[in-house]
Amino acid sequence: MSYDYLHISLLLAAALLCFISLTFILHLVSVRWSLRHVPGPKCSSLIWGEEWLLYHSLPGSHYVKWHSQFGKVLRFTGAFGHQILSITDPRAITFIVGEGIYSFPKPTGVREWFKVTLGEGILWVEGKEAHERHRRPLAPALSTQSVRNLTPIFYETSAKLASQWAKLVDESTSDKTEIEATNWAGRFALDTVGRAAFSYDFDCLSGEKHALADALDGLTNNENKLSSFYMRALFWIFPSILSIGKKGEMIRLTKQELGDIAVRMWRDAKIAGDTNEKNVMAMMLKADASGATTSDEAHLVAEMRTVISAGYETVSSTVSWVLYELATNISIQEGVRKEVSTGGDPSFDELNNKYPLLDAVIHETLRLHPPILENHHQAAETISVPLSEPIQGTSDMYLVIPKGTILEIPVNVVQTDPAVWGSDAEIFKPERWIERKEKGIRQQREIFAFSEGPRSCIGRAFALTEVKALIITLLRQFSFTSPYEIEPFQSFVIRPRIKGQGPSSLPLLVSRV
Ligand code: HEM
Ligand SMILES: *[C@@H]1O[C@H](CO)[C@@H](O)[C@H](O)[C@H]1NC(C)=O
Repeated sequence: MSYDYLHISLLLAAALLCFISLTFILHLVSVRWSLRHVPGPKCSSLIWGEEWLLYHSLPGSHYVKWHSQFGKVLRFTGAFGHQILSITDPRAITFIVGEGIYSFPKPTGVREWFKVTLGEGILWVEGKEAHERHRRPLAPALSTQSVRNLTPIFYETSAKLASQWAKLVDESTSDKTEIEATNWAGRFALDTVGRAAFSYDFDCLSGEKHALADALDGLTNNENKLSSFYMRALFWIFPSILSIGKKGEMIRLTKQELGDIAVRMWRDAKIAGDTNEKNVMAMMLKADASGATTSDEAHLVAEMRTVISAGYETVSSTVSWVLYELATNISIQEGVRKEVSTGGDPSFDELNNKYPLLDAVIHETLRLHPPILENHHQAAETISVPLSEPIQGTSDMYLVIPKGTILEIPVNVVQTDPAVWGSDAEIFKPERWIERKEKGIRQQREIFAFSEGPRSCIGRAFALTEVKALIITLLRQFSFTSPYEIEPFQSFVIRPRIKGQGPSSLPLLVSRV
């Protein structure tokens, strides 16, 4: 009896597996057929597609190569034969992240990543109504007006970082002190988002070892391991891979760590009650008190984790790359220092109007080092997308994207288009921003690093302002050079590291000005 039962179960399981595999294969074949007219590189591995190649080369370099060869729409193969569209066509991009955005949610795998690391917050949510419910309370807290009021906090965290650097420089016996900048950039970003968004001090800038900073880093900053490759290649088609093994365990621990802190922050804020502030925490308290959202604690904690993480990794990477660019071109560094050298802490409006070169350096950095390299979406239905020019080898001014297809907008390619930026598009040249302004050149899409449309970065003003405050503070006190050869590598965001070495690093030789 029990033998028969086992037998039947096994048979059923085998049938189910066959069925799933068949459906998968049929889906692959049908997508491939629908996209047969879209050009692209030949599949280099039956199992991994192009994932192995992408993972083991300079971030974004293959996208540049492929798009110069195949045009603005191309397709390549991911793990187990699934098709990925890479799109740089400006009209298609406007549609996908604009009016079409709710037909192009984040891919299931990406959503699963956000769910297991952060919970069901705004980076995870999909659907117009549900998304707007998440976005509405955040918007006033991160608006221009709100950032204007938060600017003094940005100077406080900047000053804390500067005083730590001053200590290191003064303790050193030589006239130049080596300081690892990515670690400090991370601590700055974490403390700033904690204080400015949640009135909470993570106190990473005290310089002590910090469990949260370490945990967040451990999650994404351990690349070049085979397990990281498997995860990256496979989570598109098997999202549950994110919950298994050592990496899955690590993800759970970090989520818990950040969650425990968020719960504490929330309960403290609730006890403290109404303040005059308008930051994220205050908006969440307000929404909670008015009953406007059905906000259980898990929901709030997920949102807090999401905002902290969104404001941490990206800003940390941007600060590192700005420092890197300033360190490798002393004449630019001196130019910006001269521009910002006088006066007290500039106000928010001064930050945005008085320092064209600083502004240009930060935009040029985001243009050449977008922290988020790819903007991923998945077609929720079969949908036709308008194009600005026909796909290579066809006369179609539109592209029909089959349901379920993953598409990817390579931000680096979009931001280095020679048709927009000229033949020196690849070169770090901040003056180009000033020249363009003088000549009145304004492209519709100057930068795509924050994405666009209803799901664009809601923290853009916040990020630009904190980075400016920090760079001004540092340039007034220190000069720095970069003694090692540095390369970008992908570790969720794109970070710098000493060429060929594991985790992120940017050692600078720092002295007082
Ligand atoms: C230089 C720094 C930053 C960059 C380059 C950046 C980039 C981006 C990008 C590309 C997206 C869209 C993601 C997608 O849908 O695929 C995004 C979304 C988001 N960002 Fe940022 N970000 C930065 C800083 C910040 C900061 C400081 C905060 C908060 C204080 C923040 C909060 C968010 C939130 C909440 C979303 C989700 C918006 C939504 O789905 O409606 N970001 N960011
Ligand atoms: C430094 O930047 C200036 C201004 O963009 C440029 O003219 C110069 O060639 C750069 N120097 C180096 C070494 O890249």
